[in-house]
Amino acid sequence: VHTGERPFAELLPDSATWRRGELHLAGIALTDLAAEYGTPLYVYDEATLRSTARGVLETFGPLRARVSYAAKACALTGVLAVLREEGLDLDVVSAGEIEAGRRAGFRATQMHLHGNCKSDEDLLTAIRLGTHAIVADSVDELHQIDRLAGGPVSVWLRLRLPITAETHPHLQTGEGSKFGLSPGAELGAALAMVCSKSCLELRGLHTHLGSQIADPDLLRAAAEQLASRAQTLRSKGFRVAVVSVGGGWAVPYVPSDSHLPPGRVADALTVVVERNPELQLAVEPGRALVARAGIALYRVGSVKWSGGNRIIAVDGGMGDNPRPAMYGASYYVLPLKGANGRRTGPATIVGRYCESGDVLARGANLPDVIPGDLLCLPVAGAYQLSMASAYNLVPPPAAILVGADGPRPLLRGATVEDLLARDVWSAFAQKKR
Ligand SMILES: Cc1ncc(COP(=O)(O)O)c(C=O)c1O
Repeated sequence: VHTGERPFAELLPDSATWRRGELHLAGIALTDLAAEYGTPLYVYDEATLRSTARGVLETFGPLRARVSYAAKACALTGVLAVLREEGLDLDVVSAGEIEAGRRAGFRATQMHLHGNCKSDEDLLTAIRLGTHAIVADSVDELHQIDRLAGGPVSVWLRLRLPITAETHPHLQTGEGSKFGLSPGAELGAALAMVCSKSCLELRGLHTHLGSQIADPDLLRAAAEQLASRAQTLRSKGFRVAVVSVGGGWAVPYVPSDSHLPPGRVADALTVVVERNPELQLAVEPGRALVARAGIALYRVGSVKWSGGNRIIAVDGGMGDNPRPAMYGASYYVLPLKGANGRRTGPATIVGRYCESGDVLARGANLPDVIPGDLLCLPVAGAYQLSMASAYNLVPPPAAILVGADGPRPLLRGATVEDLLARDVWSAFAQKKR
């Protein structure tokens, strides 16, 4: 079955090899990592993070683009530090992500702040540190910035363009979504606000069409619309210098998925950059930089048959990976070893959480497995750990980075004690007694 050098290369990290029928990353057997760190376990491949970041920066270099990693995909400081070392800037959405960025060594001027309902703390943190820009999402937010700013603040305006990305509705962020200003009345009101408040310095226009976008022409259309608006504003005296088309480049999770490689995005945007030399292009890829670098390891807990289906339950699930339950995301699943020569057949991989929707993958082609066997989910580096929850009071898992320096911890697994530390009732009740 899964034999030879680097099968499924498009889904596995760069350093993946099969030795004696066993999957290794950076020369380390994943079964050894599972034994040492426990499961579920998220393993990030440093080589993939670096080569992907380098590739994106090389591709966008000739366009003089500002390339920022969207930290929401994975905000582990060890991952952020690697991406910073490679030369990326950072897109953040909260005071928490700003702090993670700082701990990873990013300067405030390398970060810009997104969010459709920023708290005063988010905005004050960005203002106090002097982030590159705050991306205002509503007219109300411009009032909020004006109230909090003690001096000039560089602002981009996020627009909801009439372009619909063909992707899951939960991943669409264009017209009809909660994000951004309408390009008509709301943009007009925002511009009036900018003109009347000296602290608001309009420097950029932004849009993000959604995620898992496979058609680069949509991104070109968005860039064209933003550039045309930016040029109109410049002719009226606004000092708009940046147009950002966000992220959303599709990555494959299963072999049949569409892929939008960075080179095709850059090719599509080149014409807009060439026609608008006064404007700097900005992009914000998230999953395209980290998804394939991460894999998730799970241990089989039980196998049963239900409704004619083989149901394999593993020790993680929607707590560490809510994507299948949230928007029907598909995954490929493979055994870490011992698949060769064994009978394979379809299986549904379910998690350990008390929800029928806690299904990690359907129709996985797997050999017979028994409790204790290890399974792996490739393309697990984005929007899994960063969206992990402690549902059922199950502690979210650990993550490690593997590379030339061997395995290095990124995140320790949570403990029940961690989860209950914020639950102050028993301490309070004991004091009263
Ligand atoms: C404003 C913005 N930029 C960039 C991204 C990154 O998207 P992706 O990870 O699909 O590239 C997102 C994702 O939600 C976003 O909202």
